Amino acid sequence: MKRDVTRPISSNPNLLKWVAKMAELTQPAAIHWVDGSKEENELLCAEMVEKGTFTKLNQSLWPGCYYARSDASDVARVEDRTFICSLSKDTAGPTNNWEDPFEMRKKLKRLFAGSMRGRTLYVLPFSMGPVGSPMAQIGVQLTDSPYVVVNMRIMARIGLAVFKEIDKAEKRVVPCMHSVGAPLNPGQKDVPWPCNPEKYIVHFPETREIWSYGSGYGGNALLGKKCFALRIASNLARDEGWMAEHMLILGVENPQGEKTYVAAAFPSACGKTNFAMMIPPPAFEGWKVWTVGDDIAWIKPDEHGRLHAINPEAGFFGVAPGTSVKTNPNAMAALARNTIFTNVALTPDGGVWWEGMTDTPPAECLDWQGRRWTPEIGRSTGAKAAHPNARFTAPASQCPTIDPDWEKPTGVPIKAFIFGGRRATTMPLVYQAFNWSAGVYTGATMGSEMTAAAAGTVGKVRRDPFAMLPFCGYHMGDYFRHWIKMQRSLSETPRIFHVNWFRKDANGKFIWPGFGENMRVLKWIIDRARGRTVGKETPIGWQPRYEDIDWSGLDFPKEKFEELQAVDRAAWRAEIIGHEELFIDLHDHLPKELIYERELLICRM
Ligand code: GTP
Ligand code: SPV
Ligand code: MN
Repeated sequence: MKRDVTRPISSNPNLLKWVAKMAELTQPAAIHWVDGSKEENELLCAEMVEKGTFTKLNQSLWPGCYYARSDASDVARVEDRTFICSLSKDTAGPTNNWEDPFEMRKKLKRLFAGSMRGRTLYVLPFSMGPVGSPMAQIGVQLTDSPYVVVNMRIMARIGLAVFKEIDKAEKRVVPCMHSVGAPLNPGQKDVPWPCNPEKYIVHFPETREIWSYGSGYGGNALLGKKCFALRIASNLARDEGWMAEHMLILGVENPQGEKTYVAAAFPSACGKTNFAMMIPPPAFEGWKVWTVGDDIAWIKPDEHGRLHAINPEAGFFGVAPGTSVKTNPNAMAALARNTIFTNVALTPDGGVWWEGMTDTPPAECLDWQGRRWTPEIGRSTGAKAAHPNARFTAPASQCPTIDPDWEKPTGVPIKAFIFGGRRATTMPLVYQAFNWSAGVYTGATMGSEMTAAAAGTVGKVRRDPFAMLPFCGYHMGDYFRHWIKMQRSLSETPRIFHVNWFRKDANGKFIWPGFGENMRVLKWIIDRARGRTVGKETPIGWQPRYEDIDWSGLDFPKEKFEELQAVDRAAWRAEIIGHEELFIDLHDHLPKELIYERELLICRM
């Protein structure tokens, strides 16, 4: 018997009341309570194929996979349209856009009034973290986008089990409103990717609410991810003594079976997915890297004061371009089935392609905007077949290296934090901060060249503290203070490192081979975190000597290593002036530890 999707699944009176109120506001043609089942998913996908939002890929090549092309204007996060609407502007801080919550609510009411006309409102319950985990958080997203529903089904735990949690009424539920902002008049034909040129990604940190308008793109529309698991969760974490971070989590197993977990913060499109799924080079026999998460970590001290982390997500929303069987075979295996591809290229045989997927591009394909593309067209016009921020949405469970403990409700123990950015100059391959506060300084002053993950100028170096610039839901200076203070609740402090895979030589070529070879750096990091190897003291921290790195199977001359590891004093002078610019913006909230750390750094230089 077919389920009546309009019948509420939950009996929670607050939820029922809120759904009714929001339906009254947005005027949808129908309401659909999402149970998260396979049948429901198939139905939604079939409907989207019918409407042209989805193309079903060749099922013998790509079983369970679908393809979507976004509107050409809706391809990335919109940081200048993202708002933290705390009561006071000072709470949001200078790195966030702020508007008065009262004014913003009025604006949102206007925008959402009738915004779902002609569409279905989906009631989508989701759990960030394994359902029932003490570290999990629950949200309900109301959305008029079936694309969002099927993506969220991969990225989070959704449906019946979550409604059950909500009905227990033990946990606070974060309400998440989402509309693509494209109401349909009676008889009006829909477009494949409805959205609105006017976009608002709005967070109310005090009341723990999210309102997103005008976009269907990942980080703007899958509200469990950046909006909840980072911007709202960073507020929860500050209040409750834990951490919500833009970090991958991985476990390294050595040939003796000893396992060490680390968490690493790199800005958007700077290598988290690749690092989390790394395969050690052949010479590292018996070594294994296990994947826990590739984007977000929630980290909390256990009762013994040791940090434990969970991945609040259930899938990977990963950058497609550059992903190949050579660079990231685990991602390729994870995305081989049951995956949604957005803004990649479509091949004539009903498959997908993107730059870097294979050495030889297909002779012909349709690009991410549906135009004919050939390698010749690419060469002569510079047009890319896939958008640089094209993404795959793949279930984490399909990753061959997914850690046996990836869904452990209490998380995995974290021994080290790694920070890193995309830097053509100045930043060495690796160094270790002297201690916790020096490490917090390292995270706080991170810089990175901007990427296509956000709308804006690609390539320009900007400060991206802890890779959280677009994601910290309150004053960045207070967030630094929270990091400083966390140490006091710890019996064992993770060691802190900084890496840079992206340093370039005089000819503009990457000096470091990266990807699997990053294992050599990771091994040094693990050995340092476990107190097993020495470091050379330098002005910025501890660095490995050439002989401290395991080079087996790689011919990497000492001179090149020295070039990679060089700490150029003139460049660092400019770097510290860059730190100062951020600190001036944050100065009245800046913890004094960071001011002292900066002084010490200048002295050592
Ligand atoms: P978000 O999902 O946006 O948060 O990004 P991410 O940090 O997970 O980035 P991802 O791992 O998808 O990497 C983005 C780009 O960096 C891809 O084009 C990769 O090919 C490239 N990349 C990743 N690791 C390395 C590396 O070690 N060396 C070099 N040169 N490029 C890398
Ligand atoms: C990022 O931009 O850091 C991402 C992709 O991980 S999105 O979910 O769109 O924010
Ligand atoms: Mn990210």
